[in-house]
Amino acid sequence: MISRQTIDEIRNRIDIVDVVSDFVSLKRSGQNYKALSPFTNEKTPSFYVVPSKGIFKDFSSGKGGDGITFVMEHEGMSYVEALKYLAKKYGVEIKEDARTPEDVAAQSERDSLYIVMNFAKDYYKNLLHKHEEGKSIGLSYFRERGFNDNILEKFELGYSLNEWHHIEEAAKKAGFSENILEKAGLIIRKDDKIYDRFRGRVIFPVHNLSGKVVAFGARILTKEKGLPAGRQDQPKYINSPETEIYHKSQVLYGLYQAKNEIRKYDFCYLVEGYTDVISLHLSGIEHVVASSGTALTEEQIRLMRRFTENVTVLFDGDSAGIKAALRGIDLVLKGGLNVRVVLLPDGEDPDSYSKKMGSTEFQQYLKSHTKDFISFKIDLLSADASRDLPAGRQDPIKKAEAIREIVTSISLIPDPIKRSVYIKETSDLLKIQEPVLLTELNKIIIQERKKREQERMRDDVHEPLPEFVEEVVQAGKTDPLAMVQMQERETIRLLLNYAESGVGDDQKVIDFLLEELEDVEFTNPVYREILDAFRKGVDTNTRIDNFYFLENGSDGVKRAVADLMTSRYETSPHWSEKFHIYFPHEKEVMHDVTMTNVLRLKFRLIQKMMEENLKEMKDVKDDATLDKHMAVHAQLKGSEKELAGILGIVVSKG
Ligand code: UTP
Ligand code: MN
Repeated sequence: MISRQTIDEIRNRIDIVDVVSDFVSLKRSGQNYKALSPFTNEKTPSFYVVPSKGIFKDFSSGKGGDGITFVMEHEGMSYVEALKYLAKKYGVEIKEDARTPEDVAAQSERDSLYIVMNFAKDYYKNLLHKHEEGKSIGLSYFRERGFNDNILEKFELGYSLNEWHHIEEAAKKAGFSENILEKAGLIIRKDDKIYDRFRGRVIFPVHNLSGKVVAFGARILTKEKGLPAGRQDQPKYINSPETEIYHKSQVLYGLYQAKNEIRKYDFCYLVEGYTDVISLHLSGIEHVVASSGTALTEEQIRLMRRFTENVTVLFDGDSAGIKAALRGIDLVLKGGLNVRVVLLPDGEDPDSYSKKMGSTEFQQYLKSHTKDFISFKIDLLSADASRDLPAGRQDPIKKAEAIREIVTSISLIPDPIKRSVYIKETSDLLKIQEPVLLTELNKIIIQERKKREQERMRDDVHEPLPEFVEEVVQAGKTDPLAMVQMQERETIRLLLNYAESGVGDDQKVIDFLLEELEDVEFTNPVYREILDAFRKGVDTNTRIDNFYFLENGSDGVKRAVADLMTSRYETSPHWSEKFHIYFPHEKEVMHDVTMTNVLRLKFRLIQKMMEENLKEMKDVKDDATLDKHMAVHAQLKGSEKELAGILGIVVSKG
């Protein structure tokens, strides 16, 4: 047990800003600090640190507390683990009793796993440096690859003897049970026999964010990249299995060693494997992580986003895999990261190429060959479309395919401003008019939503709200402007009553609506005033509520707000008692309600634009202008039909 006195001492030493900064890039905001929430995937910062009180508060996840709580939440540690971590950080001594086998058994499993992995790491390290076999085989292998002492120490590299029961016996002697060795993945049990998992291999420990070893990757020993005679049937790497403390999809190799540099440069190189990370360190580049041979997972992206939003992916030069890899990157775009790319020359990987070039030249190469991901993709695909054709000509089918593929990538980017920048760029580079690309983009976004919508519908069935009932709209019979304003009113009502509620995907109603309506200007001046106030509130990070409007609004605003403040589907509780019918409260169906509002508003805006376009058309005299209006009409009509399809509204032909 840790004594009360020690705990108090740790508490006294904690500097909340310092503790949090080890994991999150904080920006000063007055007397406090803020950042993007490390617990969710938010886009506007709502994570605060208040040094005067020694606390943090995360509005997007609701978590909050002191430095110890933060470490527990962030690192998934127990209270005792967090205390030990902080004690180490601040040099507070914790007296620990000598471990008896009973003590070891009594500790929580996670604790024991960390301890046994740490033991194994030290053990493998020691073998590399002290044991004859380790030195003559493991160490000389690393030396041949140019790994210096600094690297060996920084990555805590080791060696496992080519024996069946070596780590097993050593660990047992040190008091570890067979059970925990097996749970840690250090030994394998098969048909009642046990043996060491890693044998005759160099060892790459995998660290978690706080520097604890959670797994090992063990590489076979060959000078070439092929396998030696007699070991052809063995994999190049043997990795630790998933354990209580190791979830492969949530770890990035090298992040622990890289995190400070990543913060410093505000970007991070992404490579494939253990040796690539180390090669970059040898070339003086320390802001690098590896996904360990697979495409990045969502959790890894979230992890990376705690340190930077900018990632530069290094591709090996062989063109075969490039296209497949390109698709892998789409996930990174979807995660909201800015992706850049460096393509290495044909046949080179970071390891071989950095050796060939030398540090300075290699660094120079990376700098001068970094390309924005979308432009990279555009170049690649447009080169593909003009292959084997006379200069200036492109295969139209391939070109259409290329456009679709690029726009699909763009559609994944969550930030609408970035999307429009890329559309513009694509338009310039491919010489295609922006509206064409925008139509394609909207089509993809709507398809994607429809798909998600259908998936959701399958998952949970709600009583349909009155809003979803089909309605028949005949163009000309309704006043488009009035219809637009009805939806504007609905948007405002949702903002006033549910701004902070969730719409799913970790997003709040206010963020969803403001993002979706980013480029929309309300036609009704009162609603416009209210919407603008919400926008300003988000920009300046102040929460706007109904009382703000009741105090500060113009008369019109006050009236509208008072009018819209009550929820619309509030049913009296006695209804459900009387009829035994369950009425979903509006809050529970927020996703549907907001989505429908946005789509309807856009639908009505399109109808209004169509009406205006038709009006203008009447006075047109020359054919060219008429053609333009016709094209606009056709485009609007297409969007109208698509939106109507989703909304279940029947639209007139024409
Ligand atoms: P590589 O084959 O490129 O390995 O696989 P490497 O680490 O670059 O090794 P060298 O430079 O050829 O010696 C890239 C990553 O894929 C995973 C490892 O994480 C590796 O670092 N991998 C590869 C495995 O997990 N198992 C394997 O059998 C092969
Ligand atoms: Mn490699």
